[in-house]
Amino acid sequence: SIIHVLLTGGVGSRLWPLSRKQSPKQYLDLFDGKSLFEMTVQRNQCVADKVVIVGNRDNTHLSHKAMVNCGLPYKNIVEATPRNTAAAIAFAALAVEPKDILIVTPSDHMISGSEAYAEAIQKGVEKAKEGYIVTFGIKPTRPETGYGYIEYEDDLVKSFREKPNLDTAEDFLERGNFLWNSGMFCFQASVFLDELKQYEPKVYEKAKKAWEISKGGILDEELSLEIPSISVDYAVMERSKRIRVVPTSFEWSDLGSFEALYDYLVENGYPKDDNGNIVIGTETFTGFVGLKNTIFIYTKDAFLIVQKEKSQDVKKIYNMLDKLQ
Ligand code: GDD
Ligand code: MG
Repeated sequence: SIIHVLLTGGVGSRLWPLSRKQSPKQYLDLFDGKSLFEMTVQRNQCVADKVVIVGNRDNTHLSHKAMVNCGLPYKNIVEATPRNTAAAIAFAALAVEPKDILIVTPSDHMISGSEAYAEAIQKGVEKAKEGYIVTFGIKPTRPETGYGYIEYEDDLVKSFREKPNLDTAEDFLERGNFLWNSGMFCFQASVFLDELKQYEPKVYEKAKKAWEISKGGILDEELSLEIPSISVDYAVMERSKRIRVVPTSFEWSDLGSFEALYDYLVENGYPKDDNGNIVIGTETFTGFVGLKNTIFIYTKDAFLIVQKEKSQDVKKIYNMLDKLQ
């Protein structure tokens, strides 16, 4: 089978107060009544014949509701506690047949260009059948430090660097032969598990133990806590020799911060004033005086006013506000 694996562990803290602990951003009906989660599921129906969701227990009912909206059956893997993406992907790989092909995607990315997407995934599946771990590369447009970078030539990956510092990211952009890692991967389940076992044996062993004991129910919490928390990028992508890249041409945005959301909205004709200020969440007239590139976010129990360039710092407020999350 070709199985779409959705990772839905994040809470989207940098998009607070739009995104809440009880309703993370991927489930919000932000775009034409559809959530990013639902759009992600539908987009992958072009090749996948099954869906596996890996998420935490707070999100189970939201994933279920979204899958009912999509009208598709799915298998749910419920984490007792988040252990990062290496473990989350390992659970999915352990839950299927060794020969199954997994297309692993986050559930909170905005992608337009369904034909280009289907074409890229098709290519990825072909390479995965040959035993490679495929990542999908995006042409970088700024020295973003929150992403992984792929040094490439055709489909060969010369190096993979997760979250470089600004100097390094600027250097990568200048050199030109780098792509962003989209955070989407494609591989045979057994190939991934082999590589994980080789490079992060403790994650492999502990994840396997937690999985075997859970027998399909919620993963055992105590055993899960023994799994080292490391992302798949550091655990496997930076180290494996079986990585290949499919450069892509679809439009991709990780709507991870208000800056990214702002850029996406404005590019798509969303109204802003002469100084680049925008309002999200209310039709009530809002005036900005002496402010530039400010985003005003209105929700029924919390407002946020943020300078676009400072969007990464929204996380700080989120972390302060236990009660409002
Ligand atoms: N189920 C589950 N459990 N999902 C998780 C967990 C977990 O413990 N941790 C993270 N996720 C999910 C997130 O919800 C998100 O959908 C996806 O896995 C990736 O995690 P992020 O935390 O968003 O990663 P990142 O944005 O810092 O970096 C990754 O994505 C970038 C592109 O957006 C990396 O793959 C980078 O290399 C990449 O450029
Ligand atoms: Mg992310």
